[in-house]
Amino acid sequence: MEKIIDEKKQGETLILDKKEGNTRKLFIESYGCAMNFSDSEIVASILSEQGYNTTNTLEEADLVLVNTCSIRDKAEQTVRKRLEKYNAVKRDQNPNMKVGVLGCMAERLKTKFLEEEKIVDLVVGPDAYKDLPNLLSEVDEGREAINVILSKEETYGDIAPVRLNTNGVTAFVSITRGCDNMCTFCVVPFTRGRERSRDPQSIVEEIDDLWAKGYKEVTLLGQNVDSYLWYGGGLKKDFIKASDIQKATAVNFAKLLELCAQAQPKMRIRFSTSNPQDFTMDVIETMAKYNNICNHIHLPVQSGSDRILKAMNRLHTREEYFEIIDNIRKVLPDCAISQDMITGFPTETDQDHKDTLSLMEYVKYDFGYMFAYSERPGTLAERKMEDDVPESVKKERLKEIVALQQEHSGFRTRQHLNTVVEVLIEKTSKKSDAHWSGRTPQNVMTVFPKENYKIGDFVNVEVTDCTSATLIGKAIALSDNN
Ligand code: SAH
Ligand code: F3S
Repeated sequence: MEKIIDEKKQGETLILDKKEGNTRKLFIESYGCAMNFSDSEIVASILSEQGYNTTNTLEEADLVLVNTCSIRDKAEQTVRKRLEKYNAVKRDQNPNMKVGVLGCMAERLKTKFLEEEKIVDLVVGPDAYKDLPNLLSEVDEGREAINVILSKEETYGDIAPVRLNTNGVTAFVSITRGCDNMCTFCVVPFTRGRERSRDPQSIVEEIDDLWAKGYKEVTLLGQNVDSYLWYGGGLKKDFIKASDIQKATAVNFAKLLELCAQAQPKMRIRFSTSNPQDFTMDVIETMAKYNNICNHIHLPVQSGSDRILKAMNRLHTREEYFEIIDNIRKVLPDCAISQDMITGFPTETDQDHKDTLSLMEYVKYDFGYMFAYSERPGTLAERKMEDDVPESVKKERLKEIVALQQEHSGFRTRQHLNTVVEVLIEKTSKKSDAHWSGRTPQNVMTVFPKENYKIGDFVNVEVTDCTSATLIGKAIALSDNN
Protein backbone atom coordinates (compact mmCIF):
# COMPACT_ATOMS: atom_id res chain seq x y z
CA MET A 1 0.00 0.00 0.00
CA GLU A 2 1.12 3.49 -0.77
CA LYS A 3 1.06 5.66 2.31
CA ILE A 4 -2.32 7.31 2.46
CA ILE A 5 -0.92 10.49 3.84
CA ASP A 6 2.55 10.43 2.42
CA GLU A 7 4.43 13.36 3.91
CA LYS A 8 7.14 13.13 1.24
CA LYS A 9 4.61 13.57 -1.56
CA GLN A 10 2.82 16.58 -0.10
CA GLY A 11 2.84 19.44 -2.52
CA GLU A 12 4.14 17.35 -5.40
CA THR A 13 3.61 18.87 -8.82
CA LEU A 14 2.03 16.64 -11.43
CA ILE A 15 3.89 16.55 -14.73
CA LEU A 16 2.52 14.85 -17.81
CA ASP A 17 3.83 14.38 -21.31
CA LYS A 18 3.15 17.32 -23.58
CA LYS A 19 0.18 17.06 -25.89
CA GLU A 20 0.86 18.36 -29.40
CA GLY A 21 -0.90 21.68 -30.10
CA ASN A 22 -1.58 22.58 -26.47
CA THR A 23 -0.40 26.09 -25.77
CA ARG A 24 -1.54 26.91 -22.23
CA LYS A 25 0.42 25.94 -19.15
CA LEU A 26 -1.07 24.28 -16.08
CA PHE A 27 0.71 24.04 -12.74
CA ILE A 28 -1.13 21.55 -10.51
CA GLU A 29 -0.10 20.75 -6.97
CA SER A 30 -1.68 18.20 -4.61
CA TYR A 31 -2.02 17.76 -0.85
CA GLY A 32 -3.62 15.12 1.34
CA CYS A 33 -4.66 11.56 0.63
CA ALA A 34 -4.01 9.24 -2.29
CA MET A 35 -7.49 10.00 -3.61
CA ASN A 36 -6.50 13.64 -4.12
CA PHE A 37 -3.38 12.65 -6.07
CA SER A 38 -5.51 10.32 -8.16
CA ASP A 39 -8.12 13.07 -8.72
CA SER A 40 -5.41 15.45 -9.91
CA GLU A 41 -4.63 12.97 -12.70
CA ILE A 42 -8.28 13.11 -13.74
CA VAL A 43 -8.21 16.93 -13.67
CA ALA A 44 -5.03 17.03 -15.77
CA SER A 45 -6.65 14.64 -18.21
CA ILE A 46 -9.74 16.85 -18.56
CA LEU A 47 -7.60 19.98 -19.01
CA SER A 48 -5.35 18.34 -21.55
CA GLU A 49 -8.43 18.33 -23.84
CA GLN A 50 -8.78 22.07 -23.14
CA GLY A 51 -5.37 23.06 -24.47
CA TYR A 52 -3.32 22.76 -21.27
CA ASN A 53 0.06 21.09 -20.87
CA THR A 54 1.49 20.70 -17.38
CA THR A 55 4.51 22.59 -16.14
CA ASN A 56 6.52 22.45 -12.92
CA THR A 57 7.51 26.11 -13.15
CA LEU A 58 5.01 28.12 -11.16
CA GLU A 59 6.24 31.43 -12.64
CA GLU A 60 5.32 30.48 -16.21
CA ALA A 61 1.86 28.99 -15.48
CA ASP A 62 -1.32 30.35 -17.06
CA LEU A 63 -3.38 28.38 -14.57
CA VAL A 64 -2.38 27.26 -11.07
CA LEU A 65 -4.53 24.62 -9.40
CA VAL A 66 -4.07 23.37 -5.86
CA ASN A 67 -5.86 20.18 -4.82
CA THR A 68 -6.49 20.67 -1.12
CA CYS A 69 -7.00 18.65 2.05
CA SER A 70 -9.15 19.52 5.08
CA ILE A 71 -8.51 16.50 7.26
CA ARG A 72 -6.61 18.39 9.96
CA ASP A 73 -6.14 22.09 10.60
CA LYS A 74 -2.44 21.83 9.74
CA ALA A 75 -3.30 20.57 6.23
CA GLU A 76 -5.40 23.67 5.63
CA GLN A 77 -2.70 25.99 6.98
CA THR A 78 -0.19 24.49 4.53
CA VAL A 79 -2.48 25.33 1.63
CA ARG A 80 -3.04 28.89 2.89
CA LYS A 81 0.73 29.38 2.86
CA ARG A 82 0.94 28.13 -0.71
CA LEU A 83 -1.77 30.59 -1.72
CA GLU A 84 0.39 33.39 -0.29
CA LYS A 85 3.25 32.16 -2.46
CA TYR A 86 1.06 32.09 -5.61
CA ASN A 87 -0.11 35.58 -4.71
CA ALA A 88 3.46 36.86 -4.59
CA VAL A 89 4.27 35.32 -7.98
CA LYS A 90 1.11 36.75 -9.49
CA ARG A 91 1.84 40.21 -8.10
CA ASP A 92 5.53 40.38 -8.99
CA GLN A 93 6.04 38.17 -12.03
CA ASN A 94 2.94 36.85 -13.72
CA PRO A 95 -0.12 39.14 -13.40
CA ASN A 96 -2.21 37.12 -15.89
CA MET A 97 -1.94 33.91 -13.92
CA LYS A 98 -5.28 32.42 -12.76
CA VAL A 99 -5.53 30.50 -9.49
CA GLY A 100 -8.01 27.73 -8.66
CA VAL A 101 -8.68 25.73 -5.51
CA LEU A 102 -9.84 22.12 -5.87
CA GLY A 103 -10.72 19.35 -3.43
CA CYS A 104 -11.84 19.24 0.16
CA MET A 105 -11.09 22.83 1.22
CA ALA A 106 -12.97 24.08 -1.83
CA GLU A 107 -15.95 22.01 -0.74
CA ARG A 108 -15.70 23.00 2.90
CA LEU A 109 -15.26 26.76 2.43
CA LYS A 110 -17.21 27.28 -0.81
CA THR A 111 -17.77 30.98 -1.65
CA LYS A 112 -15.90 31.99 1.50
CA PHE A 113 -12.74 31.21 -0.42
CA LEU A 114 -13.49 33.85 -3.03
CA GLU A 115 -14.13 36.38 -0.27
CA GLU A 116 -11.20 35.48 1.98
CA GLU A 117 -8.49 34.72 -0.54
CA LYS A 118 -8.65 37.57 -3.00
CA ILE A 119 -6.35 35.91 -5.51
CA VAL A 120 -8.56 32.87 -6.04
CA ASP A 121 -10.44 32.91 -9.37
CA LEU A 122 -11.90 29.41 -9.31
CA VAL A 123 -13.30 27.08 -6.63
CA VAL A 124 -14.15 23.50 -7.60
CA GLY A 125 -15.32 20.67 -5.33
CA PRO A 126 -14.32 17.00 -5.76
CA ASP A 127 -17.45 16.02 -7.72
CA ALA A 128 -17.41 18.96 -10.15
CA TYR A 129 -14.20 18.46 -12.16
CA LYS A 130 -16.09 17.72 -15.37
CA ASP A 131 -17.45 21.26 -15.17
CA LEU A 132 -13.91 22.70 -15.32
CA PRO A 133 -14.07 23.61 -19.04
CA ASN A 134 -17.21 25.73 -18.45
CA LEU A 135 -15.82 27.28 -15.30
CA LEU A 136 -12.58 28.16 -17.06
CA SER A 137 -14.39 29.99 -19.83
CA GLU A 138 -16.11 32.06 -17.13
CA VAL A 139 -12.69 32.84 -15.69
CA ASP A 140 -11.32 33.70 -19.15
CA GLU A 141 -14.07 36.26 -19.44
CA GLY A 142 -12.93 37.85 -16.22
CA ARG A 143 -15.48 36.40 -13.81
CA GLU A 144 -14.93 34.28 -10.72
CA ALA A 145 -16.29 30.76 -11.06
CA ILE A 146 -17.45 28.20 -8.53
CA ASN A 147 -18.99 24.72 -8.54
CA VAL A 148 -19.09 22.77 -5.30
CA ILE A 149 -22.15 20.64 -5.98
CA LEU A 150 -21.73 17.15 -4.58
CA SER A 151 -23.03 14.37 -6.78
CA LYS A 152 -24.88 11.12 -6.21
CA GLU A 153 -23.46 9.49 -9.33
CA GLU A 154 -20.13 10.98 -10.33
CA THR A 155 -17.32 8.39 -10.20
CA TYR A 156 -15.21 9.67 -13.16
CA GLY A 157 -15.39 6.05 -14.38
CA ASP A 158 -15.41 7.28 -17.98
CA ILE A 159 -12.29 9.43 -17.72
CA ALA A 160 -8.95 7.80 -18.38
CA PRO A 161 -6.51 9.46 -15.97
CA VAL A 162 -3.17 10.40 -17.53
CA ARG A 163 -0.38 8.71 -15.55
CA LEU A 164 2.78 9.69 -17.33
CA ASN A 165 4.30 11.38 -14.30
CA THR A 166 4.60 8.19 -12.24
CA ASN A 167 7.25 5.48 -12.03
CA GLY A 168 5.35 3.57 -14.73
CA VAL A 169 5.06 0.56 -12.43
CA THR A 170 2.46 1.35 -9.75
CA ALA A 171 -0.84 3.24 -10.09
CA PHE A 172 -3.96 4.14 -8.13
CA VAL A 173 -7.41 3.12 -9.35
CA SER A 174 -10.32 4.69 -7.51
CA ILE A 175 -13.28 2.37 -6.83
CA THR A 176 -15.54 4.35 -4.53
CA ARG A 177 -16.04 8.04 -3.78
CA GLY A 178 -17.43 9.71 -0.67
CA CYS A 179 -18.18 8.13 2.69
CA ASP A 180 -21.40 7.42 4.58
CA ASN A 181 -19.83 6.56 7.90
CA MET A 182 -19.92 9.78 9.85
CA CYS A 183 -17.08 9.10 12.24
CA THR A 184 -17.62 12.05 14.58
CA PHE A 185 -14.10 13.52 14.15
CA CYS A 186 -14.00 13.34 10.35
CA VAL A 187 -14.68 16.01 7.76
CA VAL A 188 -14.63 13.66 4.74
CA PRO A 189 -18.38 12.91 4.61
CA PHE A 190 -18.97 16.67 4.35
CA THR A 191 -16.31 17.38 1.74
CA ARG A 192 -16.62 14.29 -0.43
CA GLY A 193 -20.32 13.55 -0.15
CA ARG A 194 -22.31 10.35 -0.16
CA GLU A 195 -20.73 7.04 -0.86
CA ARG A 196 -21.02 5.68 -4.39
CA SER A 197 -19.25 2.86 -6.18
CA ARG A 198 -17.78 2.76 -9.63
CA ASP A 199 -18.86 0.27 -12.31
CA PRO A 200 -16.68 -2.87 -11.93
CA GLN A 201 -16.36 -3.16 -15.69
CA SER A 202 -14.72 0.25 -15.96
CA ILE A 203 -12.39 -0.67 -13.08
CA VAL A 204 -11.31 -3.90 -14.80
CA GLU A 205 -10.87 -2.07 -18.11
CA GLU A 206 -8.62 0.48 -16.39
CA ILE A 207 -6.54 -2.33 -14.89
CA ASP A 208 -6.27 -4.07 -18.29
CA ASP A 209 -5.19 -0.79 -19.84
CA LEU A 210 -2.57 -0.20 -17.13
CA TRP A 211 -1.20 -3.72 -17.65
CA ALA A 212 -0.97 -3.11 -21.40
CA LYS A 213 1.06 0.02 -20.65
CA GLY A 214 3.53 -1.91 -18.50
CA TYR A 215 2.17 -1.26 -15.00
CA LYS A 216 2.68 -4.10 -12.53
CA GLU A 217 0.78 -3.00 -9.44
CA VAL A 218 -2.49 -1.19 -8.74
CA THR A 219 -3.96 0.09 -5.48
CA LEU A 220 -7.75 0.15 -5.38
CA LEU A 221 -8.73 3.34 -3.59
CA GLY A 222 -11.69 4.36 -1.49
CA GLN A 223 -12.43 5.93 1.89
CA ASN A 224 -13.88 2.57 2.92
CA VAL A 225 -13.23 -0.05 0.25
CA ASP A 226 -15.03 -2.82 2.14
CA SER A 227 -18.24 -0.93 1.67
CA TYR A 228 -17.93 -1.14 -2.15
CA LEU A 229 -21.23 -2.21 -3.72
CA TRP A 230 -22.24 -2.09 -7.37
CA TYR A 231 -25.81 -2.87 -8.33
CA GLY A 232 -26.04 -0.92 -11.57
CA GLY A 233 -25.28 2.53 -10.16
CA GLY A 234 -26.65 4.66 -7.35
CA LEU A 235 -25.87 5.37 -3.75
CA LYS A 236 -24.95 2.67 -1.27
CA LYS A 237 -27.75 3.85 1.01
CA ASP A 238 -30.36 3.23 -1.73
CA PHE A 239 -29.43 -0.46 -2.16
CA ILE A 240 -32.48 -1.52 -0.11
CA LYS A 241 -34.67 -0.03 -2.84
CA ALA A 242 -32.93 -2.01 -5.63
CA SER A 243 -34.83 -4.63 -7.67
CA ASP A 244 -34.43 -8.39 -6.99
CA ILE A 245 -32.33 -8.83 -10.11
CA GLN A 246 -30.09 -5.93 -9.11
CA LYS A 247 -29.65 -7.46 -5.69
CA ALA A 248 -28.89 -10.91 -7.08
CA THR A 249 -26.22 -9.62 -9.47
CA ALA A 250 -24.66 -7.05 -7.13
CA VAL A 251 -20.86 -6.97 -6.83
CA ASN A 252 -19.41 -6.51 -3.34
CA PHE A 253 -15.78 -5.73 -2.46
CA ALA A 254 -14.65 -9.38 -2.21
CA LYS A 255 -16.15 -10.07 -5.63
CA LEU A 256 -14.54 -6.95 -7.10
CA LEU A 257 -11.16 -8.03 -5.71
CA GLU A 258 -11.63 -11.39 -7.39
CA LEU A 259 -12.59 -9.80 -10.72
CA CYS A 260 -9.46 -7.62 -10.58
CA ALA A 261 -7.19 -10.49 -9.55
CA GLN A 262 -8.52 -12.69 -12.34
CA ALA A 263 -8.40 -9.95 -14.99
CA GLN A 264 -4.61 -9.68 -14.74
CA PRO A 265 -3.20 -12.64 -12.79
CA LYS A 266 0.29 -11.14 -12.73
CA MET A 267 -0.71 -7.65 -11.72
CA ARG A 268 -0.20 -7.02 -8.02
CA ILE A 269 -3.44 -5.83 -6.44
CA ARG A 270 -3.50 -3.68 -3.28
CA PHE A 271 -6.37 -1.84 -1.67
CA SER A 272 -6.87 0.96 0.82
CA THR A 273 -8.55 1.82 3.16
CA SER A 274 -10.33 -0.97 5.02
CA ASN A 275 -12.82 -0.19 7.74
CA PRO A 276 -13.23 -2.73 10.57
CA GLN A 277 -16.98 -2.27 10.74
CA ASP A 278 -17.44 -3.35 7.10
CA PHE A 279 -14.55 -5.79 6.82
CA THR A 280 -15.75 -9.32 5.97
CA MET A 281 -14.29 -12.83 6.02
CA ASP A 282 -14.86 -13.23 2.28
CA VAL A 283 -12.23 -10.52 1.68
CA ILE A 284 -9.65 -12.52 3.64
CA GLU A 285 -10.66 -15.70 1.81
CA THR A 286 -10.36 -14.00 -1.58
CA MET A 287 -6.91 -12.72 -0.60
CA ALA A 288 -5.90 -16.28 0.30
CA LYS A 289 -7.20 -17.60 -3.02
CA TYR A 290 -5.26 -15.24 -5.30
CA ASN A 291 -1.51 -14.94 -5.16
CA ASN A 292 -1.49 -11.57 -6.83
CA ILE A 293 -3.53 -9.87 -4.08
CA CYS A 294 -0.89 -8.49 -1.73
CA ASN A 295 -0.96 -9.62 1.87
CA HIS A 296 -1.32 -6.25 3.49
CA ILE A 297 -4.39 -4.72 5.12
CA HIS A 298 -4.55 -1.10 6.20
CA LEU A 299 -7.11 -1.35 9.00
CA PRO A 300 -7.36 1.95 10.92
CA VAL A 301 -8.72 1.61 14.45
CA GLN A 302 -8.27 5.21 15.79
CA SER A 303 -8.45 4.15 19.46
CA GLY A 304 -8.17 1.07 21.66
CA SER A 305 -10.82 2.22 24.11
CA ASP A 306 -14.41 1.04 23.72
CA ARG A 307 -15.73 4.25 25.23
CA ILE A 308 -13.78 6.42 22.75
CA LEU A 309 -14.64 4.16 19.80
CA LYS A 310 -18.29 4.70 20.67
CA ALA A 311 -17.86 8.47 20.97
CA MET A 312 -16.12 8.44 17.59
CA ASN A 313 -19.07 6.52 16.10
CA ARG A 314 -16.74 3.73 14.99
CA LEU A 315 -19.30 0.95 14.89
CA HIS A 316 -17.21 -1.84 16.43
CA THR A 317 -15.70 -2.73 19.78
CA ARG A 318 -12.14 -3.53 20.74
CA GLU A 319 -13.10 -7.23 21.04
CA GLU A 320 -14.62 -7.26 17.55
CA TYR A 321 -11.46 -5.68 16.20
CA PHE A 322 -9.35 -8.41 17.84
CA GLU A 323 -11.60 -11.03 16.23
CA ILE A 324 -10.84 -9.57 12.79
CA ILE A 325 -7.11 -9.55 13.59
CA ASP A 326 -7.28 -13.19 14.76
CA ASN A 327 -9.11 -14.21 11.59
CA ILE A 328 -6.57 -12.44 9.40
CA ARG A 329 -3.67 -14.14 11.24
CA LYS A 330 -5.37 -17.54 10.96
CA VAL A 331 -6.01 -17.42 7.22
CA LEU A 332 -3.08 -15.20 6.14
CA PRO A 333 -0.27 -15.74 8.67
CA ASP A 334 2.17 -13.52 6.79
CA CYS A 335 -0.24 -10.64 6.23
CA ALA A 336 0.99 -7.17 7.19
CA ILE A 337 -1.47 -5.04 9.14
CA SER A 338 -1.20 -1.26 9.50
CA GLN A 339 -3.16 1.36 11.42
CA ASP A 340 -4.29 4.97 11.73
CA MET A 341 -4.62 6.27 15.28
CA ILE A 342 -5.85 9.49 16.86
CA THR A 343 -4.70 10.68 20.28
CA GLY A 344 -6.53 13.18 22.45
CA PHE A 345 -10.07 12.77 21.14
CA PRO A 346 -12.45 14.71 23.47
CA THR A 347 -12.76 13.13 26.95
CA GLU A 348 -9.84 10.72 26.35
CA THR A 349 -8.41 9.74 29.76
CA ASP A 350 -5.10 8.16 30.69
CA GLN A 351 -6.92 4.84 30.93
CA ASP A 352 -8.30 5.22 27.38
CA HIS A 353 -4.77 5.98 26.21
CA LYS A 354 -3.47 2.86 27.99
CA ASP A 355 -6.16 0.85 26.19
CA THR A 356 -4.77 2.14 22.91
CA LEU A 357 -1.26 1.09 23.90
CA SER A 358 -2.46 -2.38 24.92
CA LEU A 359 -4.38 -2.80 21.67
CA MET A 360 -1.20 -1.94 19.80
CA GLU A 361 0.70 -4.52 21.87
CA TYR A 362 -1.85 -7.15 20.89
CA VAL A 363 -1.68 -6.45 17.15
CA LYS A 364 1.97 -5.35 16.81
CA TYR A 365 1.24 -3.45 13.62
CA ASP A 366 3.74 -3.45 10.78
CA PHE A 367 3.39 0.30 10.47
CA GLY A 368 0.96 3.11 11.15
CA TYR A 369 -0.01 6.75 10.83
CA MET A 370 -0.68 8.55 14.08
CA PHE A 371 -2.24 11.95 14.62
CA ALA A 372 -3.15 14.34 17.42
CA TYR A 373 -6.88 15.09 17.32
CA SER A 374 -7.66 18.24 15.36
CA GLU A 375 -11.16 19.62 15.74
CA ARG A 376 -12.86 20.12 12.38
CA PRO A 377 -15.66 22.64 11.87
CA GLY A 378 -19.05 21.09 11.18
CA THR A 379 -18.25 17.59 12.43
CA LEU A 380 -20.40 16.04 15.14
CA ALA A 381 -17.51 16.09 17.60
CA GLU A 382 -17.07 19.82 17.04
CA ARG A 383 -20.75 20.49 17.57
CA LYS A 384 -21.35 18.20 20.52
CA MET A 385 -18.07 17.79 22.37
CA GLU A 386 -15.54 20.08 23.90
CA ASP A 387 -11.97 19.70 22.58
CA ASP A 388 -10.89 19.22 26.20
CA VAL A 389 -7.61 17.30 26.05
CA PRO A 390 -4.80 19.88 26.38
CA GLU A 391 -2.50 20.13 23.35
CA SER A 392 0.47 19.15 25.53
CA VAL A 393 -1.26 15.92 26.62
CA LYS A 394 -2.22 15.08 23.02
CA LYS A 395 1.42 15.55 21.98
CA GLU A 396 2.73 13.50 24.91
CA ARG A 397 0.39 10.60 24.13
CA LEU A 398 1.22 10.86 20.46
CA LYS A 399 4.91 10.60 21.26
CA GLU A 400 4.25 7.46 23.26
CA ILE A 401 2.26 5.66 20.58
CA VAL A 402 4.74 6.69 17.87
CA ALA A 403 7.58 5.23 19.96
CA LEU A 404 5.67 2.00 20.53
CA GLN A 405 4.86 1.75 16.83
CA GLN A 406 8.53 2.20 15.97
CA GLU A 407 9.37 -0.67 18.25
CA HIS A 408 6.74 -2.87 16.60
CA SER A 409 7.76 -1.82 13.08
CA GLY A 410 11.34 -2.78 13.91
CA PHE A 411 10.15 -6.13 15.25
CA ARG A 412 8.10 -6.82 12.10
CA THR A 413 10.91 -5.73 9.79
CA ARG A 414 13.40 -8.01 11.56
CA GLN A 415 11.02 -10.96 11.08
CA HIS A 416 11.93 -10.84 7.37
CA LEU A 417 15.67 -11.26 8.06
CA ASN A 418 17.18 -14.34 6.38
CA THR A 419 14.05 -15.00 4.34
CA VAL A 420 13.48 -14.63 0.61
CA VAL A 421 10.99 -11.93 -0.38
CA GLU A 422 9.50 -10.97 -3.74
CA VAL A 423 10.23 -7.37 -4.66
CA LEU A 424 8.68 -5.36 -7.49
CA ILE A 425 11.37 -2.92 -8.64
CA GLU A 426 10.01 0.64 -8.69
CA LYS A 427 13.01 2.93 -8.88
CA THR A 428 16.65 3.59 -8.07
CA SER A 429 17.26 3.71 -4.33
CA LYS A 430 17.30 7.26 -2.95
CA LYS A 431 20.51 6.52 -1.08
CA SER A 432 22.53 4.76 -3.77
CA ASP A 433 22.54 4.81 -7.58
CA ALA A 434 23.85 1.26 -7.57
CA HIS A 435 20.78 -0.14 -5.81
CA TRP A 436 17.16 -0.72 -6.81
CA SER A 437 14.31 -0.08 -4.45
CA GLY A 438 10.89 -1.70 -4.45
CA ARG A 439 8.36 -3.25 -2.11
CA THR A 440 7.40 -6.72 -0.94
CA PRO A 441 3.73 -7.80 -1.00
CA GLN A 442 3.64 -6.80 2.69
CA ASN A 443 4.64 -3.31 1.56
CA VAL A 444 8.12 -3.33 3.09
CA MET A 445 10.61 -1.17 1.22
CA THR A 446 13.56 -3.29 0.07
CA VAL A 447 16.88 -2.26 -1.51
CA PHE A 448 19.42 -4.45 -3.29
CA PRO A 449 22.28 -4.16 -5.85
CA LYS A 450 20.98 -3.54 -9.37
CA GLU A 451 22.95 -6.21 -11.30
CA ASN A 452 21.08 -6.78 -14.60
CA TYR A 453 17.57 -6.36 -13.27
CA LYS A 454 15.34 -3.53 -14.43
CA ILE A 455 12.42 -1.40 -13.30
CA GLY A 456 9.18 -3.41 -13.35
CA ASP A 457 10.87 -6.79 -12.71
CA PHE A 458 9.60 -9.05 -9.93
CA VAL A 459 12.74 -10.28 -8.18
CA ASN A 460 13.33 -12.79 -5.37
CA VAL A 461 15.61 -11.12 -2.87
CA GLU A 462 17.41 -12.74 0.03
CA VAL A 463 17.20 -10.43 3.03
CA THR A 464 20.57 -10.13 4.74
CA ASP A 465 20.18 -6.96 6.79
CA CYS A 466 17.65 -4.28 7.68
CA THR A 467 17.10 -0.85 9.18
CA SER A 468 13.94 -0.13 11.18
CA ALA A 469 11.75 0.11 8.09
CA THR A 470 13.84 -1.07 5.12
CA LEU A 471 15.06 -4.51 4.11
CA ILE A 472 18.52 -4.84 2.57
CA GLY A 473 19.38 -7.87 0.49
CA LYS A 474 20.71 -9.49 -2.64
CA ALA A 475 18.75 -10.63 -5.69
CA ILE A 476 18.64 -14.40 -6.25
CA ALA A 477 16.65 -14.56 -9.48
CA LEU A 478 13.55 -13.25 -11.21
CA SER A 479 10.44 -14.57 -9.47
CA ASP A 480 7.87 -16.79 -11.25
CA ASN A 481 5.63 -13.79 -11.63
CA ASN A 482 7.50 -12.27 -14.61
N1 SAH B 1 -11.34 6.29 5.54
C1 SAH B 1 -10.31 7.20 5.23
C2 SAH B 1 -9.90 8.04 6.36
C3 SAH B 1 -9.40 9.31 5.85
S1 SAH B 1 -8.66 10.28 6.99
C4 SAH B 1 -9.14 6.54 4.55
O1 SAH B 1 -9.22 6.27 3.39
O2 SAH B 1 -8.11 6.30 5.17
C5 SAH B 1 -7.14 9.43 7.35
C6 SAH B 1 -6.89 9.40 8.80
O3 SAH B 1 -6.76 10.71 9.32
C7 SAH B 1 -7.98 8.76 9.64
O4 SAH B 1 -7.94 7.38 9.63
C8 SAH B 1 -7.72 9.35 10.99
O5 SAH B 1 -6.79 8.57 11.71
C9 SAH B 1 -7.09 10.70 10.68
N2 SAH B 1 -8.03 11.78 10.97
C10 SAH B 1 -9.23 12.01 10.40
N3 SAH B 1 -9.83 13.08 10.97
C11 SAH B 1 -8.99 13.54 11.92
C12 SAH B 1 -9.04 14.62 12.85
N4 SAH B 1 -10.10 15.41 12.94
N5 SAH B 1 -7.98 14.79 13.68
C13 SAH B 1 -6.91 13.98 13.62
N6 SAH B 1 -6.81 12.95 12.76
C14 SAH B 1 -7.83 12.72 11.93
FE1 F3S C 1 -13.77 9.58 7.73
FE2 F3S C 1 -14.69 7.51 9.06
FE3 F3S C 1 -15.31 7.83 6.50
S1 F3S C 1 -12.59 8.30 9.14
S2 F3S C 1 -13.59 8.92 5.64
S3 F3S C 1 -15.93 9.14 8.17
S4 F3S C 1 -14.78 5.92 7.54
